[in-house]
Amino acid sequence: MGYSDIYAAWKADPEVFWMDAAKGIDWITPPSRALDDSNAPLYEWFTDAEVNTCWNAVDRHVEAGNGGRTAIIYDSPVTDTISYITYDELRMRVARLAGALAAKGVTKGDRVVIYMSMVPEALVAMLAVSRLGAIHSVVFGGFAANELAVRIDDARPKAIIATSCGIEPGRTVHYKPLLDAAIEEATHKPDFCVIFQREQEPAELIPGRDHDWHVFQDGAELADCVPVKGSDPAYILYTSGTTGQPKGVVRPTAGHLVALNWTMKNIYNVDPGDVYWAASDVGWVVGHSYICYAPLIHGNTTIVFEGKPVGTPDAGTFWRVIDQHKVKVLFTAPTAFRAIKRQDSKGEFVGKYDISSLQALFLAGERADPDTIEWAEKLLGVPVIDHWWQTETGWAIAANPLGIEKLPVKIGSPSVPMPGWDVQILDEAGHPVAAGELGAIAAKLPLPPGTLPTLWHAEERFRKSYLDHFPGYYETGDAGYMDEDGYLYIMARTDDVINVAGHRLSTGGMEEVLASHPDVAECAVIGVTDELKGQLPLGFLCTNAGTEKPDAEIVAECVKLVRDKIGPVAAFKLAVVVDRLPKTRSGKILRATMVKIADGAEFKTPATIDDPAILDEIRVALKGIGYAPDA
Ligand code: COA
Ligand code: AMP
Repeated sequence: MGYSDIYAAWKADPEVFWMDAAKGIDWITPPSRALDDSNAPLYEWFTDAEVNTCWNAVDRHVEAGNGGRTAIIYDSPVTDTISYITYDELRMRVARLAGALAAKGVTKGDRVVIYMSMVPEALVAMLAVSRLGAIHSVVFGGFAANELAVRIDDARPKAIIATSCGIEPGRTVHYKPLLDAAIEEATHKPDFCVIFQREQEPAELIPGRDHDWHVFQDGAELADCVPVKGSDPAYILYTSGTTGQPKGVVRPTAGHLVALNWTMKNIYNVDPGDVYWAASDVGWVVGHSYICYAPLIHGNTTIVFEGKPVGTPDAGTFWRVIDQHKVKVLFTAPTAFRAIKRQDSKGEFVGKYDISSLQALFLAGERADPDTIEWAEKLLGVPVIDHWWQTETGWAIAANPLGIEKLPVKIGSPSVPMPGWDVQILDEAGHPVAAGELGAIAAKLPLPPGTLPTLWHAEERFRKSYLDHFPGYYETGDAGYMDEDGYLYIMARTDDVINVAGHRLSTGGMEEVLASHPDVAECAVIGVTDELKGQLPLGFLCTNAGTEKPDAEIVAECVKLVRDKIGPVAAFKLAVVVDRLPKTRSGKILRATMVKIADGAEFKTPATIDDPAILDEIRVALKGIGYAPDA
């Protein structure tokens, strides 16, 4: 069956489709039905089933006689390490850590925050938590202590598992001091912490609270997998919304297992045993779904890569990894390829390696620009597949399902909706628009298995953020259009979220930080176009009347403040002081117009603008820092 038939079959009977997909999972109590709509418009899947995530990702492969297969390859050019973990070994490691956690009182439903660099122990920690039916919340290492504290207070973890440090090219990231500062700042305190000491920078442990990873597990009993209900949360992953308070996306256990397992063959076209590599970080949804869970659930070999596409040591690293480990599918963000292209535009490094194992490159996380796609296609000689999804969805809304049928690629489009997704383009009043017309991208409820049923302890925010605007639909927050052939085009966010190097960031969150600077009266942050990172945040600062401090000093302090409060990942390095911000007569800051000016794009002065002269002031200020080329 081709894509159209499979999509039509899903649409005709979603219940049959998902019950069939559920056969790929080992159940303790199989589901009697797929969808539970008893609480619509909040939907759940496989609610009456009992299952364990870790069993499906680890134990079942051992039981099936595949324990000798490599589960994880750790490839770390920044520490010059390559190591391999079989499924047998992974089961031992995970069961032992789970046993030690259980002995310290971690049980089903407890939260455990994980703050770790890209080491295989991060996956061991995630799986050990899920083995106990507990709920993990992984926090990306590029976030500052304050961001970690906010997440600790929201998730209220019983324990935190961390690495002593992370390694970025040229510097060591001091995770443990950041963790200490975050716990100090948070109102909620964990019962205990487990610290994986990295030899590059072992940390000082706080007696009574902190435990060394190895000592902690010494002599621990091996824990069994704990059954949970299909709708119980597997994890919480915080993501940026419009404010500084991140949204706690809840991932339901059974839907997550069923959907991810389905995607591995149908979208990525890999079979158990194949090597699958998502070059991302466990702190992001791509890392959750496609470094940890999906490849392991499906019995693949996954790669934990601790390095960058360039500089570790050169722009040939990706090809070296593909060659050395015989990678069949690579998944990364377009920004990684832009980085490689910038350093090796002719692609000369590829010639040094044998990358014939590679069957496809998948890109997601941000818009894939046509130049990058064409360059990658020519260089690698394999299909380059853009696919579109979000932290909220956990897997692709739209893709080119290579395992079903390779549809014609239309550059600039992540192709077509996957089964489970009835995607519609809506006008402001919620009516579907014609093909080719721009609108808000929404998905008809219910969303498929694996997607968020709610936000952690914030059902009202969930309804308000995603359901209320277009009743009967999930609002994606992206705008775009669908062509006559049903191909989607993702054009922009409809909210204050920007995408920097594939990392999702809130301009509203940055504005909250800037507004806390004592000399800043008012501010706005926009995302300007950047050749490498896609977008970069740029701040406009209006200082208090009578401020004597030089503008440059205020800008430098603001840059440091965002780095300290949000973290280096915000990449906030650009700001200008202006007298006034352009606003509508009702006081709304005209951020979209400022973006157009900064990018040198054409625009119409909004009819509602209060004082058009301010736009010239903005243009002059932007030119002063190298932006706003003439349109
Ligand atoms: N821990 C601590 N700091 C981190 C970090 C981590 N895990 N990850 C990134 N940072 C820091 C970086 O060191 C950098 O700090 P700096 O301002 O001191 O240089 C800052 O956060 C910004 O990071 P990033 O935006 O990633 O820029 P970069 O220059 O380090 O790397 C790319 C640029 C394109 C090479 C890199 O972003 C990349 O490989 N991206 C593609 C893959 C990916 O991660 N996608 C995400 C989701 S799919
Ligand atoms: P995140 O939740 O971090 O995965 O970010 C999700 C957002 O990234 C989406 O809502 C889009 O705005 C953007 N995004 C992800 N994938 C794509 C893609 N393939 N094309 C365009 N934008 C994308």
